[in-house]
Amino acid sequence: MELLPLWLCLGFHFLTVEWRHRSGMVTAASQGGCELLDGVADCRGRNLASVPSDLPPSSRTLLLDANPLRTLGNNSLQRYPFLESLSLHDCYLERIGHVAFQEQARLRSLALPDNALSESYKETAAALHGLRGLRMLDLSGNSLTEDMAALMLQNLSSLESVSLARNIIMRLDESVFEGLGHLRELDLQRNYIFEIEGGAFDGLTQLRHLNLAYNNLPCLVDFSLTQLRSLNVSYNVLEWFLASGGEAAFELETLDLSHNQLLFFPLLPQCSKLHTLLLRDNNMGFYRDLYNTSSPQEMVAQFLLVDGNVTNITTVNLWEEFASSDLSSLRFLDMSQNQFQYLPDGFLKKMPSLSHLNLKQNCLVTLHIREHEPPGALVELDLSQNQLSELHLAPGLPGCLRSLQSFNLSSNQLLGVPAGLFANARNLATVDMSHNQISLCPLPASLDPGGTPGCVDFRNVASLQSLSLEDCGLEALQDCSFQGTALTHLDLSGNWGVLNGSIAPLWDVAPTLQVLSLRNVGLTSSFTELDFSAFENLRSLDLSGNALTSFPRFGGSLALQTLDLRRNLLTALPQRAVSEQLAGSLRTIYLSQNPYDCCGVEDWGALQRLHIVADLAMVTCNLSSKVIRLTELPAGVPQFHTGYVCALPLVTSLELVRKGRDSVLPCSKNTSKSSNLVLWMERVSVLRVPQG
Ligand SMILES: *[C@@H]1O[C@H](CO)[C@@H](O)[C@H](O)[C@H]1NC(C)=O
Ligand SMILES: *[C@@H]1O[C@H](CO)[C@@H](O)[C@H](O)[C@H]1NC(C)=O
Ligand SMILES: *[C@@H]1O[C@H](CO)[C@@H](O)[C@H](O)[C@H]1NC(C)=O
Ligand SMILES: *[C@@H]1O[C@H](CO)[C@@H](O)[C@H](O)[C@H]1NC(C)=O
Ligand SMILES: *[C@@H]1O[C@H](CO)[C@@H](O)[C@H](O)[C@H]1NC(C)=O
Ligand SMILES: *[C@@H]1O[C@H](CO)[C@@H](O)[C@H](O)[C@H]1NC(C)=O
Ligand SMILES: *[C@@H]1O[C@H](CO)[C@@H](O)[C@H](O)[C@H]1NC(C)=O
Ligand SMILES: *[C@@H]1O[C@H](CO)[C@@H](O)[C@H](O)[C@H]1NC(C)=O
Ligand SMILES: *[C@@H]1O[C@H](CO)[C@@H](O)[C@H](O)[C@H]1NC(C)=O
Ligand SMILES: *[C@@H]1O[C@H](CO)[C@@H](O)[C@H](O)[C@H]1NC(C)=O
Repeated sequence: MELLPLWLCLGFHFLTVEWRHRSGMVTAASQGGCELLDGVADCRGRNLASVPSDLPPSSRTLLLDANPLRTLGNNSLQRYPFLESLSLHDCYLERIGHVAFQEQARLRSLALPDNALSESYKETAAALHGLRGLRMLDLSGNSLTEDMAALMLQNLSSLESVSLARNIIMRLDESVFEGLGHLRELDLQRNYIFEIEGGAFDGLTQLRHLNLAYNNLPCLVDFSLTQLRSLNVSYNVLEWFLASGGEAAFELETLDLSHNQLLFFPLLPQCSKLHTLLLRDNNMGFYRDLYNTSSPQEMVAQFLLVDGNVTNITTVNLWEEFASSDLSSLRFLDMSQNQFQYLPDGFLKKMPSLSHLNLKQNCLVTLHIREHEPPGALVELDLSQNQLSELHLAPGLPGCLRSLQSFNLSSNQLLGVPAGLFANARNLATVDMSHNQISLCPLPASLDPGGTPGCVDFRNVASLQSLSLEDCGLEALQDCSFQGTALTHLDLSGNWGVLNGSIAPLWDVAPTLQVLSLRNVGLTSSFTELDFSAFENLRSLDLSGNALTSFPRFGGSLALQTLDLRRNLLTALPQRAVSEQLAGSLRTIYLSQNPYDCCGVEDWGALQRLHIVADLAMVTCNLSSKVIRLTELPAGVPQFHTGYVCALPLVTSLELVRKGRDSVLPCSKNTSKSSNLVLWMERVSVLRVPQG
């Protein structure tokens, strides 16, 4: 108790300071240490066991989250008749007195997430029934069953938004949401719902947003919530989705069916405003082979519907159903992580507004590019991680893919692309062709053009900015492969020998390149032209996994911020080179996994002080048969001369300091002092002198 006044005092002091910064607003502290500001009483996390009784009676918002209240008594809110918003998140609430909200006629928003309201739900339900003006009610995380939820929501007809997320609801029937005629938003995610009876949502004529993610629904048939704008049924076990037939106009804009077990493309309303359809991670495919028919028109699926004691077999002609669904507004379609082996002819033609199509991680083998298919509005196309060995381009299609900006063909089995594909795509900025075995145009004159598959031509694709060709098995580049582009990002990693002794093939893009990755390409320092001085906008350069024995040249005025030199054959630390060439700009350098000679690390301290070595702890040097971490060298080393370093690992810094500068010896054998060094080291311990 003695501490309280002081604490309050501090609290008040803080608040007055606060007040000065937000002039015009009234702040004060209350008994419970709540912060008061402009009608808001913020009592979160104050270890309160009851609602403070000395808050301004005019308070409109009361935040009591994270206090161990356990019970909200009948009278605890009596003094605050003007409350519009009350938040009791995580208050261990088990009971709410049945007249607790008697005075709260103005309450609009009530948040009760993460409590234990199932404990005495009947009393709580009675308390809620007094709230005739309530618009927002959050009951998530309260272990409520459907019956408890139904009781609590009964007659709360003013509600516009309800969350019942993270409860233990299993079934929904028409009684649960009865009379909630103004409800616009309903969150039921993370329950155990496996069944929704017909009519469960019938009374919810204003419902716009319904979230059923993370439940156990096996199918949605006869979906007929025409007024709904967004429906989220992701992370269930849906095997099929079937909208009710007929020509009713649906308002549906966003449908998330991702992470289910759908076998067929969903059968969508015939008239809707759908712009986002998310189908990621299902088991969907088209089944031409299964039906042994060349025409999709003949594909039929039969669904067994069991409803009580009535069993119905519904026959659906998949293609007709698909063909009759309205996809004219669709802009975003995610079909990634499915089993699509092909797309039927005309499939994409139904989506003239499509701008983003994701087909990543399917089983596509070929793709035909025809007129309006994919549609001209397409901006982003991801075909990565398929088995594409062929792209077909219908002849005479000058404007195809005219809006395309990003094209991902990574990890397929392509040997090339149709001539002119990229040249036609006038807005193409990003191409990822990594992990395909291709060659770039022009091919060396020596190669017989007849015998090899066509080369991929990026020349004069003026819009191209980012190109990934990692691991494409590229042959040595000719000098003008990137001529006429203004590449800012280029990845040539993993193509061993792609720069055959010279970085000349990159001259064309040297002025524009900002990010260049040359990992594992077989660069050696004998490259006469390993000089990046002309790359004046280069910000990031990855040279790891090569055979560099010396630091590349950069010239003076570089923008380089990140440099990766790991896994090379550097024997000397590049301190001087770094500070001379890259002073100012360089922020991160990776240096580990090089066989630095411990006798050549004199610049280590200076380099360390620049605070730019990102893998500091991993940098080692090579001392005869030993590998030593540079960070394990005793502190103070940098103040001494080189020679010490060779002896350091086995002496303490104390000894070093005592010995002082005079006894510092260079380690190279060819200096006059080398014999002294050997003597000295023999005295300290056993340490072999490195071969100089
Ligand atoms: C609220 O008052 C009623 C009697 O009016 C009583 O039965 C109930 O236990 C009280 N609840 C709480 C939480 O105090
Ligand atoms: C709900 O409203 C109906 C009719 O308006 C009424 O008969 C019923 O008693 C009310 N239930 C509660 C719990 O207030
Ligand atoms: C659907 O709900 C899940 C789970 O809350 C969420 O991750 C996902 O983003 C939602 N989908 C949309 C389209 O908002
Ligand atoms: C598929 O159809 C062709 C002719 O249309 C027929 O020869 C073949 O046996 C059929 N295969 C199967 C598995 O039914
Ligand atoms: C099916 O169930 C309904 C009521 O649920 C019952 O009236 C009817 O007799 C049942 N029919 C059969 C064939 O069992
Ligand atoms: C069974 O099918 C008939 C005709 O298609 C339909 O009228 C009836 O409502 C269906 N019954 C169920 C349980 O789906
Ligand atoms: C292309 O797809 C691959 C694999 O799906 C991904 O790793 C890569 O980041 C994508 N490329 C671009 C440029 O987005
Ligand atoms: C690689 O460089 C050498 C020497 O400059 C040259 O003789 C050879 O033709 C080049 N190879 C290719 C494939 O360009
Ligand atoms: C020291 O570096 C050389 C390469 O220069 C390497 O062959 C040798 O294995 C390294 N020594 C140790 C102990 O790793
Ligand atoms: C001796 O060291 C100097 C540099 O300190 C070097 O230039 C010279 O080549 C070395 N001589 C021998 C024989 O190693």
